[in-house]
Amino acid sequence: MGLFFWGMKGWILKNGSLVWEDQLPDENQTTEHVVCDVLTSALNHRDVWIKYGKYPDIKENIILGSDGCVIFDGKRYLINPSIQWGNNELAQSDEYSVLGMPTHGTFSDKISISKENLILVPDYLTDEEAAALPLAGLTAYRALISRARTTPSDVVLINGIGGGVAMMAFQFALAQGCKVIVTSGHQWKLDLAIKLGAHAGYLYTDDQWTKRLIADFGGVDVIIDSAGGDGFSNLMKVIKPGGRIAIYGGTHGKITNLNTQVLFWRQVSILGSTMGSDQDFKEMVDFVQKYDIKPVIDEVFPLSQLELGMKKMETGQQFGKIIFQNQDLR
Ligand SMILES: NC(=O)c1ccc[n+]([C@@H]2O[C@H](COP(=O)([O-])OP(=O)(O)OC[C@H]3O[C@@H](n4cnc5c(N)ncnc54)[C@H](OP(=O)(O)O)[C@@H]3O)[C@@H](O)[C@H]2O)c1
Repeated sequence: MGLFFWGMKGWILKNGSLVWEDQLPDENQTTEHVVCDVLTSALNHRDVWIKYGKYPDIKENIILGSDGCVIFDGKRYLINPSIQWGNNELAQSDEYSVLGMPTHGTFSDKISISKENLILVPDYLTDEEAAALPLAGLTAYRALISRARTTPSDVVLINGIGGGVAMMAFQFALAQGCKVIVTSGHQWKLDLAIKLGAHAGYLYTDDQWTKRLIADFGGVDVIIDSAGGDGFSNLMKVIKPGGRIAIYGGTHGKITNLNTQVLFWRQVSILGSTMGSDQDFKEMVDFVQKYDIKPVIDEVFPLSQLELGMKKMETGQQFGKIIFQNQDLR
């Protein structure tokens, strides 16, 4: 049976600002829901977009946060942040939403959530690594594996390695045995990625980077991108004939300069991808377990310091996931 309770605590958006609130009604509850203690949560760029009003259908007074490692009945669970995907593997239903607005999310001490959205945490992951996984892992898995259908012989380019989803896609492609190339706006991030197994790294701020990549590798088979915008024309330069470009974000806005001649002549597929289905989520957790993948963590903050973590993401200083611990709430 579900349990309704009043007095939920968490970070909400109120009059355009992030505030901690400790007298909220539990709006998630239904009879299928269970109440879990949140151990750890993680930040996504989505939370930053919401804070600045740059996300569709913003609803205030809702606890944000889409990633969580929770305790229910003495066991640790990951939360699948895809709510009501539906039965169609090709796309989500009209009722679909992402956890953490419009329904209460994980920047909280407790959450009520459908049991169907819970999946046991692989034992070898810490609470912090577990919280890093759900949204970024799901998005990366669908973009790379369900949509771009990478195989070990593919050369994969991860555009903007510093991001949470990008880093997860990088780790998944390496686990598959692909040759992985990365770009970044920061040399230090390229250096770290090479230490983790990248074959090469290019600064996307260098106007010669596409020429260098083509000279070094001849091009790439798969590109995973969340930037879009004007820089997309560079991705069309390095994609090989028959290549696939999976796009899961549009940080730099509309693609206004798509070279259609390259698109059709090289038989390129551009694939939109958002979050993932329940099946993607389950497959992603199995995949992570099969390859003993440990998400890369940038920094762990107490949940009371949410805004410090946000500031780090807003200024692009992170490499991997930014995590919040709830210890200071207990
Ligand atoms: N559709 C979905 O389901 C879904 C899911 C998750 C995220 N997203 C979207 O995807 C984007 C990234 O999300 P996130 O949570 O991973 O954010 P994040 O951790 O803040 O990462 C931001 C990313 O943008 C990259 N970047 C910035 N400027 C770039 C440029 N000019 N060219 C290439 N890359 C650039 C950064 O790379 P460097 O730091 O290496 O420069 C970094 O990878 C956001 O727009 C988010 O809303 C969509």
